[in-house]
Amino acid sequence: MPNYDFDKVIDRSNNYSSKWDELGKMYGRDDLLPLWVADMDFMSPKPVIEAIEARAKQGIYGYTSRPESYFESVARWMKKRHDWDVKTDWMIFSPGVVPALSFIVNAFTHPGDKVLVQSPVYYPFFKVIEDNGRRVVNNPLLFKDGRYTMDFDDLEEKVKDPQVKLLFLCSPHNPVGRVWTEEELNKLGRICIDNNILIISDEIHQDILYPGVKHTPFASISKEFALNSITCTAPSKTFNLAGLQTSTIVIPNKIYYDIYKNFMTRIHLLRNNAFGLVALEAAYTYGEEWLDQFLEYLDGNLKTLSEGIEKDIPQIKITKPEGTYLVWMDCRELGLDTKGLNDFMINKARLALDDGYWFGTGGEGFQRINLACPRAYVNEALTRLKKAVG
Ligand SMILES: Cc1ncc(COP(=O)(O)O)c(C=O)c1O
Repeated sequence: MPNYDFDKVIDRSNNYSSKWDELGKMYGRDDLLPLWVADMDFMSPKPVIEAIEARAKQGIYGYTSRPESYFESVARWMKKRHDWDVKTDWMIFSPGVVPALSFIVNAFTHPGDKVLVQSPVYYPFFKVIEDNGRRVVNNPLLFKDGRYTMDFDDLEEKVKDPQVKLLFLCSPHNPVGRVWTEEELNKLGRICIDNNILIISDEIHQDILYPGVKHTPFASISKEFALNSITCTAPSKTFNLAGLQTSTIVIPNKIYYDIYKNFMTRIHLLRNNAFGLVALEAAYTYGEEWLDQFLEYLDGNLKTLSEGIEKDIPQIKITKPEGTYLVWMDCRELGLDTKGLNDFMINKARLALDDGYWFGTGGEGFQRINLACPRAYVNEALTRLKKAVG
């Protein structure tokens, strides 16, 4: 079994990477340490690279045809890692999870309809709803004693509006790092079923879990929940494949499956690209050892960050994540307003992080840092933060 070296710093300057190449555009300067966009500064598992290399060497990149083994590899992965029995005929290819959210909004709602989100949350959720002429209804998370929970009382109120048709569930939750318990998902699922709201469960971070934490796929809880949900999955966070634009949408309800499939047929977006096709299958079939090593390394990065902050930068508090490689930092004790905090991170600490307010209500005063990077970057970020705080 290969021993992956996650400490190795890899130069991404010729990598055409949004995380590294768009600093100037996003932050106004290029000399920042980029710990923002949610991808990894690591190479993907060796078997994935080999599968892509073998495909590249064929030299013919015509229209692709998915072998049965492709969705079978997804099903095996879901069973093995999450104890979820998924049938291959519930699965549909999508070039991404965010595009899928947009397709779903179009296929399952009308202009003016409303979609629930739970902020602070992954900001494209808002864009997908609003850019398609639908309206956001927010059910903000509660934050108490450093931990986020769902506000079910507020949800019960919001679902009374008959124009609310969907709920975007972020599970595990980006940016707060919660991995929802089965009990929480049960309550959420019940409320939605009772009020005719379809749950769209974005589980793209499902595999990135800290020791002892179990992810419960929403649809795995009961047949009733499966039939009232669409689950968005992808190997892109797990194996650093986002640039290959390959994800899998799981729709156990045949009526909803057909609605979605018809939509995809109308927009003619049914085939994989040649490299995503082989990469997904190789990742789910042979990537587990790499993932387990990565998760161990990530836990070390989290410890490094948490201990460093606690020791030297007590004005910042870490919201301890249960999942995702993203860490949500409470910077409110720095006493800066939104603009001041943004300026502090960019011009004083010289870090490119995700500004908390991007994530909607409840995000102000927070920053999101990405720990899917060599430990040297985490240490460098700590050094820069310590110096900036003074
Ligand atoms: C919750 C969540 N959903 C979706 C995505 C992106 O999905 P995709 O690249 O497949 O569109 C991300 C990326 O950060 C994410 O955090």
